[in-house]
Amino acid sequence: MKIIVTGSRGMLGLDLVPRLEQAGFQVMGVDIDELDITRLDDISRYFKMDRPGLVINCAAYTAVDRAEKESDSAFAVNRDGPDNLARVCMDRKLPLVHISTDYVFDGNGDQPYPEDDPVNPLGIYGKSKWEGEEAVRTCLKENLIIRTAWLFGVHGKNFVKTMINLSCEREEFNVVSDQIGCPTWSGDLSDALVYITKVIQKNRARVPWGTYHFCGQGQTSWHGFACAVVEETSKRGKSQRPRFQPIPTCDYPTPAKRPMWSVMDCCKIQNASNVHPLYWRDGLVKMLERLYYDAGKDDDPGGSD
Ligand SMILES: NC(=O)c1ccc[n+]([C@@H]2O[C@H](COP(=O)([O-])OP(=O)(O)OC[C@H]3O[C@@H](n4cnc5c(N)ncnc54)[C@H](OP(=O)(O)O)[C@@H]3O)[C@@H](O)[C@H]2O)c1
Repeated sequence: MKIIVTGSRGMLGLDLVPRLEQAGFQVMGVDIDELDITRLDDISRYFKMDRPGLVINCAAYTAVDRAEKESDSAFAVNRDGPDNLARVCMDRKLPLVHISTDYVFDGNGDQPYPEDDPVNPLGIYGKSKWEGEEAVRTCLKENLIIRTAWLFGVHGKNFVKTMINLSCEREEFNVVSDQIGCPTWSGDLSDALVYITKVIQKNRARVPWGTYHFCGQGQTSWHGFACAVVEETSKRGKSQRPRFQPIPTCDYPTPAKRPMWSVMDCCKIQNASNVHPLYWRDGLVKMLERLYYDAGKDDDPGGSD
């Protein structure tokens, strides 16, 4: 089965494409230069030419704060992009796997969110992602929407790499301690997406299409996550042990409001499949092993890209 992965040069796409290839799939990884998902005609032409059997959409506008000022761009990529992909998938009778976010919720709860909890996004990013989900659901029956959260990985800019860099530069810094969520290793999500792809290939008629949550198990705050990063990296002699000061969200104002409680319930995907997300800290350890293995003799965590 040939698979098109959009957003292939993003954090998730860069982990996913090689895993799909290792699993024996023929993969066309495309990013904005090859296929801009905001351009319906280009998608139609591309799919006609390449004849995929499945599309996995990892493309997104992910600059949460910038989205508050650039809402047109955020809605174009996060709402109209998935809408375009779903329309072409419907025409060509293709299934679509689409990645979404915990930011569709407002974070006012205190229990893990199941998939059917009411949404109430706080900012433009969350709103645009929610409308993208709705566009996919409205257009296409054979869709899987996978919501994930607090994604980190070897590629691209992310919280783990920022903490490693800061811990090499500073002795003390402040980290927000009252936002709670589920850090998710992009490698673990990629493995789950490979499994899902195999299920679709095996028997498409029996796939329980719908919306699922996939995030690291357990929960922590950004402060707890930062402490874990430094504990794990200093064990490996890769960082100093700076002091983290826990601070409340109100002391770290950002243009976009974030959910205070971002814990998602992943029972549905675990009951429907063999997919079991890693405990978030085990995901962190695996990501660091991969980061330092890839870096070889180079001590630079590569967080500046
Ligand atoms: N990162 C997180 O913490 C997080 C949390 C929850 C959910 N998610 C979701 O997980 C998915 C993957 O996120 P990620 O962190 O891998 O994002 P990412 O690193 O920002 O990657 C997204 C990729 O999509 C590309 N792209 C942007 N506009 C495009 C367009 N019009 N057409 C085609 N490609 C386009 C981006 O290119 P440019 O870099 O050139 O813009 C980038 O290569 C997204 O759906 C995101 O919403 C992420």
